[in-house]
Amino acid sequence: MNPNSESAELGPALQALIVRAEQALERGLPPAEQSPAELHHAMRYAVLGGGKRLRPLLVYAAAHALGTDSVALDAAACAVELIHAYSLVHDDLPAMDDDALRRGQPTCHIVYGEAMAILAGDALQALAFEILADDMARQLDAATVVAMLHALGRACGAEGMAGGQALDLAAVGRKLSLAELEHMHACKTGALIRASVQLGALIAGADADTLDALDRYAHAVGLAFQVRDDILDVEGESAVIGKTAGKDAAAGKPTFPSIIGLEASCERLAELTDIALTAIAPLGNRGVLLQELAHYSANRRR
Ligand code: IPE
Ligand code: IPE
Ligand code: MG
Ligand code: MG
Ligand code: MG
Repeated sequence: MNPNSESAELGPALQALIVRAEQALERGLPPAEQSPAELHHAMRYAVLGGGKRLRPLLVYAAAHALGTDSVALDAAACAVELIHAYSLVHDDLPAMDDDALRRGQPTCHIVYGEAMAILAGDALQALAFEILADDMARQLDAATVVAMLHALGRACGAEGMAGGQALDLAAVGRKLSLAELEHMHACKTGALIRASVQLGALIAGADADTLDALDRYAHAVGLAFQVRDDILDVEGESAVIGKTAGKDAAAGKPTFPSIIGLEASCERLAELTDIALTAIAPLGNRGVLLQELAHYSANRRR
């Protein structure tokens, strides 16, 4: 087993892939000083300078497990992180979670105003698809590109992230069942995490069985990631997690700890990690980065 697999920190291979993702994002974003400069500044602010880059890492790790390291992965890594950054900008808006702190910095709307933050989110979402279609179209066959655009679109939309966010808002102050809570988390956070793994696997030319196994892994990791997020909101400190601790309880959000308690939340986390690891067991040592990311999602401290 990888020496870092039980740790809350990432090992050197994944650290190197973070650098690769950062470079892809820097290349993909519009230059700060080019008009409309304020929008470009807001987009760059939302994406650069922080973030664990879990979704790009999943793109690379899934492809790595299937023996592929194509430059086409950079476009997919960039696309999923742009969608994620857009979702955070909108999640923090006053009409949604009304949060002032993100990645240890003032949120996008605090710095650039609400209107510019909304537009930055819009533009980041569009840019994700533009980069995917553009860069990918040069590397891969058309059917693969279409499958990837479809997967990403589905993950962002009403059946995925946006739908999950709608369920989250509708659930404020209500007592959800555990099944309803898991469905909400699977949509708002899990869908994009699943899409990240799927894009990496599609680029690597995965067959249907492998795609299926990786999807079981991603479903469990996606859920675990949001369970950990809910736990950190209770146990974490703002200075470490880089966002306002205790916000979920204050806002009356249904979360894992609020519905089943902290202890059972930790048990569910361990169960989900097992499910994820079992799903990719057939990959053997090739799945080492995916294994590490499953542990990291469950143990991370920020
Ligand atoms: C925060 O995501 C929102 C959730 C989906 C839980 P991350 O914890 O991945 O945020 P960054 O990108 O590292 O800041
Ligand atoms: C956010 O969930 C999920 C998305 C942005 C899609 P949270 O509202 O729990 O995320 P944080 O805690 O603000 O990062
Ligand atoms: Mg939210
Ligand atoms: Mg939030
Ligand atoms: Mg949260």
